[in-house]
Amino acid sequence: MARLFEPLTLRGITLPNRIGVSPMCQYSCEDGFASDWHLVHLGSRAVGGAGLVLTEAAAVTPEGRISPQDLGLWSDAHAEPLARIAAFIRSQQAVPGIQLAHAGRKASRSRPWEGDRWMEAAEGGWTRLGPSPLPYGPVPPPRAMDAADLAAVRDAFVAAAGRAVDAGFQVVELHAAHGYLLHEFMSPLSNHREDAYGGSPEARMRFPLEVAEAVRAAMPEALPLFVRVSATDWVEGGWTLEDTVAFAARLKALGADLVDCSSGGLDPGARITSGPNYQVPFAEAVRREAGIPTAAVGLITAPPQAEAILQAGQADLILLGREELRDPYWPLHAADALEHKAPWPAQYLRAAHRDTPAR
Ligand SMILES: Cc1cc2nc3c(=O)[nH]c(=O)nc-3n(C[C@H](O)[C@H](O)[C@H](O)COP(=O)(O)O)c2cc1C
Repeated sequence: MARLFEPLTLRGITLPNRIGVSPMCQYSCEDGFASDWHLVHLGSRAVGGAGLVLTEAAAVTPEGRISPQDLGLWSDAHAEPLARIAAFIRSQQAVPGIQLAHAGRKASRSRPWEGDRWMEAAEGGWTRLGPSPLPYGPVPPPRAMDAADLAAVRDAFVAAAGRAVDAGFQVVELHAAHGYLLHEFMSPLSNHREDAYGGSPEARMRFPLEVAEAVRAAMPEALPLFVRVSATDWVEGGWTLEDTVAFAARLKALGADLVDCSSGGLDPGARITSGPNYQVPFAEAVRREAGIPTAAVGLITAPPQAEAILQAGQADLILLGREELRDPYWPLHAADALEHKAPWPAQYLRAAHRDTPAR
């Protein structure tokens, strides 16, 4: 049997296969509320056979949004439309997951199709937070977080995780990648603090680890916690793969279940060598050296390519981003290509091969 269609059990949750929809911002919310767009978009990908459907980054505070149209989970009311989405995903035998995020110094930007530019107060923007007053790009420096800010953001992550679990999500992923707040603490390029949260790699990991630990403690034992990392900044003197392995080992010790290995996003000048599988070696190194399950993501598009990554033991889970936008039925097509009989929605059986099982 194709490894891609083997179940993956993490704590008390079993993904029916090893294909996940990678978190992808839709910039389609008003005041952070999920809409019909999200139900149809995420629902279609569950119908299409992905074993795990992760939402886009959901901001834990209003200031933690990238754009004014980002998803949010900073109040109980925000959980209501999300609960409907999680229930639909589960009805397709897929596992619903949610990514929780704070955009830090990369917050307050217009959505991509409305200029894709930084927004300041005059045009409805807001003050950015960061570990240090070091801006990303040509914007005013972020406000360096004090002890009260750290506690408030940590508590916001915990509260959002609780709401996500109550809404029926079975996986929580912390966004500690792409140059957003948690990653900003980790990288020496964005964190110049002189307190307990800056300096050595150990100190720079402290805040993300505190958040992960607090979220883990607030989650039921049976539900897995994922953490998305940027395995390298792709910049001399930045966060490295070696740092990532050390961070992953700490995450494992505190009860995280999987490290989702992305890269970059911290420095606009980074020189990234990208191509098919370009981030797979990161997932492989973290899996081998930290002994924690990993997800591979980034320019994975073909079923044999995804299968080979799993066969080679480089990752435990494959996440697809843009390919899932191009083809929400990618998992069903991949099953055909790999000669596996994946269950189809009963409603669609007349379009499937003979003997296709129904969900
Ligand atoms: C439209 C779009 C929105 C994205 N939003 C997020 C996000 O909310 N959180 C995140 O961690 N990554 C985000 N990403 C990155 C993807 O999750 C993924 O890591 C990246 O696209 C590489 O995978 P791919 O080559 O399969 O697309 C986004 C990517 C796209 C294309």
